[in-house]
Amino acid sequence: MIAGGRPLRGEVRISGAKNAALPILCASLLSAQALVLDNLPELKDVDTLVRLLQGMGVHAERQPGGIHLACPDLHTPVAAYELVKTMRASILVLGPLLARCGQARVSLPGGCAIGERPVDLHIKGLEAMGARISIEHGYIVAQVDRLRGARIFMDTITVTGTENLMMAATLADGITLLENAAREPEVIDLAECLIAMGARIKGHGTDLITIEGVPALHAARHRVMPDRIESGTFLVAAAATQGDVTLRNTCPDALLAVLDKLYEANASIDRNGDSLRIRMRGPNLGVSVRTAPHPAFPTDMQAQFMAMNCVAEGTTVITETIFENRFMHVQELRRLGANIEIEGNTAIIRGVPGLEGADVMATDLRASASLVIAGLIAQGETRIERIYHLDRGYEHIEAKLMGLGADIRRVAAPAIG
Ligand code: EPU
Repeated sequence: MIAGGRPLRGEVRISGAKNAALPILCASLLSAQALVLDNLPELKDVDTLVRLLQGMGVHAERQPGGIHLACPDLHTPVAAYELVKTMRASILVLGPLLARCGQARVSLPGGCAIGERPVDLHIKGLEAMGARISIEHGYIVAQVDRLRGARIFMDTITVTGTENLMMAATLADGITLLENAAREPEVIDLAECLIAMGARIKGHGTDLITIEGVPALHAARHRVMPDRIESGTFLVAAAATQGDVTLRNTCPDALLAVLDKLYEANASIDRNGDSLRIRMRGPNLGVSVRTAPHPAFPTDMQAQFMAMNCVAEGTTVITETIFENRFMHVQELRRLGANIEIEGNTAIIRGVPGLEGADVMATDLRASASLVIAGLIAQGETRIERIYHLDRGYEHIEAKLMGLGADIRRVAAPAIG
């Protein structure tokens, strides 16, 4: 429940990145020796993945702010449908399992709220490395004696696909070239963790990654990068409420496209090391965006910008090019009084003077963040249902927003029937 209409003010500490933590946790499968992670966010998706890894043989011990992982005996290379269907990132175990023990049985993820999201490029890449893969009863069943290096061209840029193949290639026989690789900062963070474990990787952060396989990886310690999407979400929330917020422990260099768009919307942003302060220079002018792979504007920030644009001066256009069904928040924003029209993969947002609180329903993680921002802008009370989506990817979000002066609280869902 949010009582909106107050500007956010103050400081907030940014957590470790969900989308870096998930592949890095999977990297623990690649080695018999310890992997210690710092700055691990407390999130439902992290808990789900740790449970999945434990079932395979990973010992996991939480430490303040981090985790100690070790997998001396990978006894069950299986990811069951029950867990994979709740979190698509579970597909990230496929490459490490094949690389470490030559076999894997991983449920196909199935559809999801934001689009079809196939994993054909993960499979094709592993096949090019010598794996024999079949689909049996909804499971990807894969086998190989030892993966061998290969030249792999991905015809669509895929983040988890690049991560899966990069992890697999660390233990392969020979050199792997990943062409048209994803350049997301989370891919770089994973590569840096793997390098700390003894992997030989070059070119991460460019579209050509070269991995020279080694026989085994060793113990390492790694600090998970700050969450650029959580950062962007707080920046937009501050701008949309005409607030004044400083982010601590963030990653300004990973946020350039987002900062540029906020500036265009009339924000002033001051950088000081790993801190960012945002204020508005005047009225919210809104900004048109088009999502595309990094370093362009991230699809994971599209819904939040749409909430801000709802109350901007003038008309803006948001084009989604990554996922075909990522406008589920539009009909909920309309319930708050937004004027949005959809034409194919484009949303046309005509700014209105204000939003009004209402009951709305979250459909996925970033759509939920958009509704929270809209609720903070709106006059009156907004009740957001199905906030379990938020807990998957935002650490202590209501506590952090309360720290910035928001009137927000978690209420139990009313019993049905
Ligand atoms: N695609 C294929 N074949 C594949 C893989 C992907 O056609 O084998 C297509 C997808 O359907 C999509 C495009 O390629 O149209 C890009 O998808 P990508 O594979 O890059 O997405 P992902 O790896 O499944 C990650 C993030 C998402 C984020 C996207 C895009 C993780 C765990 N997830 O997903 O994060 O939106 O990259 O940047 O890293 C979120 O955090 O809310 C979230 C959805």
